[in-house]
Amino acid sequence: MSVPVLHDARRPPVALVGAGRLGSALARRLHAAGYPVAAVASRTEAAARALAALLPGAEVLRPGAALPEAVRLVFCCVPDEALPSVARHLASLEHPWAATVVAHTSGALTAGVLAPLVERGAAAMSFHPVQAFPPSADPSVFEGIVIGLEGAARAVALGREVARDLGARPVELAATDKARYHLAASVASNFFVTLMALAGEVLGSIGLSRSESAALLRPLVEGTWHNLREGLPEDVLTGPIVRGDAATIERHVQALAEHLPHLLPVYAALATETVRVAVRGAHLPPDEARRLLDTLHAAVDPPPDALFDG
Ligand SMILES: NC(=O)c1ccc[n+]([C@@H]2O[C@H](COP(=O)([O-])OP(=O)(O)OC[C@H]3O[C@@H](n4cnc5c(N)ncnc54)[C@H](OP(=O)(O)O)[C@@H]3O)[C@@H](O)[C@H]2O)c1
Repeated sequence: MSVPVLHDARRPPVALVGAGRLGSALARRLHAAGYPVAAVASRTEAAARALAALLPGAEVLRPGAALPEAVRLVFCCVPDEALPSVARHLASLEHPWAATVVAHTSGALTAGVLAPLVERGAAAMSFHPVQAFPPSADPSVFEGIVIGLEGAARAVALGREVARDLGARPVELAATDKARYHLAASVASNFFVTLMALAGEVLGSIGLSRSESAALLRPLVEGTWHNLREGLPEDVLTGPIVRGDAATIERHVQALAEHLPHLLPVYAALATETVRVAVRGAHLPPDEARRLLDTLHAAVDPPPDALFDG
C-alpha cells in the first residue's frame, strides 16, 4: 500500500524544466522532501513523461502550455547553453511571476541568465548542487552535499530552505565569485578523473590492463583520500617532490620523454604546483624547490642547444 505524501504549506508547488540527470534526481528528491512537483517539462515529451510517472500529481507540460497556476518555484535543469531560450520561453507564458522564484542549476552561470523572468517580476537564483549526477542518480546523493546559491535575496532565502530540506548545506555566493567557485569544483571532480585516466595510460604503457591498473591505484587513492580527510594538502603530501628528490623527478621526466612525451607538459605543470604545496607546508626549503623547478622547466622547455643534440 502506498503512503500518501503530505505537503506542508512551507513547501511551494514546483515545476521542473529539463528531465535529465540532475533534473530527474532533483525532482524525485523534492517530492520525497514534501515539495509537490506539479509539472515537468523537457525537450522531448518522452523524457518528461518518464519522470512525471515517478512523481504522483505531476503533469507533463507540452510546449507552449502555461505552468499550473499554483506553481511558485521553477527549476530549470537544462544545459547551460539552453538556459537563455528556456528563460525567454518561460517569460512569454502568463503566470503570477511576481510571486514566483525561478532557479537554474548551472554551476558556471549566474542568476543573470534568467533576466527575462526577472523583468516579469520573478525572483531569480542559481541553485547549484556540488555533486556529479550520473544518469539515473539516486536522489539520496543530495545528502550532505553543498548547494551553491546566488541571486536575489528573496530567491536565495527560499533556496536555503529547499537545500536544507534536501539534506544539503546551502552556501551563498556572490555573482562575481561564481566562475572561480565552479572552476574549483570542476578541478576537483573532472581533473581527478583525468588524473586517474593519465595514471592508467602510463600503467597501460607497461602492459597493465585497465582492471590491473584500477586494482593498483584504488587502495593508493583511497589511502590518500583518507589522509586528506584528516589534514591539509600540505600536511599529507608524500612522494619525491616533498622529499626534494630531484634525481627521481629526473627519472620520471626521462621515462616520459622516452615513452609518453605528450604527457610531459601536464607532468611538469602538476609537479610545479606540487612544489608550491610542499613549500607552503614548509617541508621543502626554497633552494631545493628551485632545483626541482629547474629540472622540470628544462624538461618541457629545453635550452635551445638541447633541441639540436644529435
Ligand atoms: N549532471 C551533473 O553532474 C550536474 C551537476 C551540477 C549541476 N549540473 C547542471 O544542471 C544542468 C543540467 O545538467 P544535466 O547534467 O542534468 O544535463 P542533461 O542530463 O543533459 O539534462 C538536460 C535536460 O535538459 C533538457 N533540455 C535541453 N534543452 C532543453 C530545452 N530547450 N527545453 C527544455 N528542456 C531542455 C533535456 O531534455 P530531453 O532529455 O528531453 O532531451 C535533458 O533532459 C546544467 O546546467 C548543469 O551544469 C549538472
